[in-house]
Amino acid sequence: MKQENKDALKMNRRKFIKRTTLAAAAVTLLPKKVPAQTTKAGTPSTGSGVHHVLSKQPGTPDHALYTERQSDMLGLGPDGKPVPGYKATGAGVTPAKAANDPSKPPHQMKLTQEEQDILDGKKGKAPAKVMRTVVDHGNLFGATKLVDLGGAPHTSFFTGTPAMAPLIKAFTECANEGLKAYSAYTINPRPFDLYNVQTEPDEQNMIFEGYPLQTELDHLHVRLGGRNLDTRSCMCYVPEVGNAPKKGTFVAWAESSAVNAGNSILGIRTNRNSCGMDLMCALLGKAPYFGLMTDEGRKAKWLIEVKTKGEPDWGVLGGAIGEKCVEDVPYIVGIDKYFDGKITPENVHKMKAMGAATASNGAVGLYHVENLTPDALDHGRDLLAKGYQTYVIDDAEIDQVRSTYPNLWPKNVKKPNRAYIGCPHNTYHEMVTWGTRIRDELKKRGLKKVAIPTHMFQATLVRNHMFYEHPVLTRDLHKAGVTFTNTCVVCFSGLKGYSKTEFGVTNSNKTRKYSNSIYLTDDKMIEAIMTGELPA
Ligand code: F3S
Repeated sequence: MKQENKDALKMNRRKFIKRTTLAAAAVTLLPKKVPAQTTKAGTPSTGSGVHHVLSKQPGTPDHALYTERQSDMLGLGPDGKPVPGYKATGAGVTPAKAANDPSKPPHQMKLTQEEQDILDGKKGKAPAKVMRTVVDHGNLFGATKLVDLGGAPHTSFFTGTPAMAPLIKAFTECANEGLKAYSAYTINPRPFDLYNVQTEPDEQNMIFEGYPLQTELDHLHVRLGGRNLDTRSCMCYVPEVGNAPKKGTFVAWAESSAVNAGNSILGIRTNRNSCGMDLMCALLGKAPYFGLMTDEGRKAKWLIEVKTKGEPDWGVLGGAIGEKCVEDVPYIVGIDKYFDGKITPENVHKMKAMGAATASNGAVGLYHVENLTPDALDHGRDLLAKGYQTYVIDDAEIDQVRSTYPNLWPKNVKKPNRAYIGCPHNTYHEMVTWGTRIRDELKKRGLKKVAIPTHMFQATLVRNHMFYEHPVLTRDLHKAGVTFTNTCVVCFSGLKGYSKTEFGVTNSNKTRKYSNSIYLTDDKMIEAIMTGELPA
């Protein structure tokens, strides 16, 4: 297949996903007449059939349609159409049968009197609409009740594209009625950074056209209780940002990597919500109780036996698990020996790389690792569901899975022109490790500068930590052409037009999945950064 056709197919899928992820949030709040929650069996949905609401708005440039991707593996083929027979919802749970069967009364969760009063409009119009949306969403999945949320929210409503206009309007209505999140909340990275990610004027033009509502969205988050811009990150749970609720806390997050890490590493309880649903639950302080929030929903349908000879490539390992399990929960054995007995700030990046790959190459919202993750420490192999399946991953399997990753660059392009480090965002430890390695390699090779612009992605607070503790290293890296940015890799490298000008290499299997970037091992990343060549 010709490269441009492949690109077009990939972009169609993105467009469809963008619309689908927002569908649930749009059901009630949007100021349009839309059908009540319905979902066809086998179609990927966490909500309603309102995709048209988010279709191209007047004046929207093409490249602005393809930048929004927060939800993963929604059962769409490369043509953007549902894969026949695909049952996964991306939420880790099947919609309740009654919701799809017109001959039966729709499922209805039990509400308290206070919740019913909100639904009946006794606390205002906007709270009633929010409650209606959240309750309908929960009913679709057979939720039995609403539960009170704790900790703090995190939202993936972070890009001010034209397609977001209806959702921005809906939440502005909430802000105008004085609604605020139950606790100050964190937000995914801003989608562009014109200071630290160098671009040509044509590209800057595309960015401004692609994200014309960014300032309005940023202001909206201030009104709804969002935290400062220096906390913007998908890695909300790092110590510098500090949104790491205690084990067992119910939250309603959407960012797939944060959901995945929160459920698995922190032991919190959240479903894989859609963008917008996370914020609605935050405004209510409640979420429907189903799926990954329940003991039953946290049982593992897969036993993953990792039998590599040495430490596995964490990104490919996660990719393999995601492709196999899709949205089922895996129980992983054989990797605890690479963590010295516990998850620490120095080794959590391995979990992050593996987990984010399970969540993007598949739709895994929770995994257990024997002897390491909180649920596994409490229950061990009792977490395995009756009739679980087994998947053995050895070196040959890792190689086989890696060999399926396509090169999406045009055929005449042989060299990278960017290097991306950190998706999800870097931890402080990763920044120091990568920074030291790059500086030492430059010195060893007698080089003053990296061969291609190299961007390290992390929250501003994490970058500041690095500045304070390693000022000389930071200065040397910056002078050598390494920049530090708090933006999102994929919002940059995934812009439609950028696939024609940007040919990145990445250490993230998530970035690989969502852009034309080529995934490399750490050693090969260093080689590419030093030489500007694509290692064999
Ligand atoms: Fe974070 Fe953007 Fe990657 S939100 S996980 S840097 S796609």
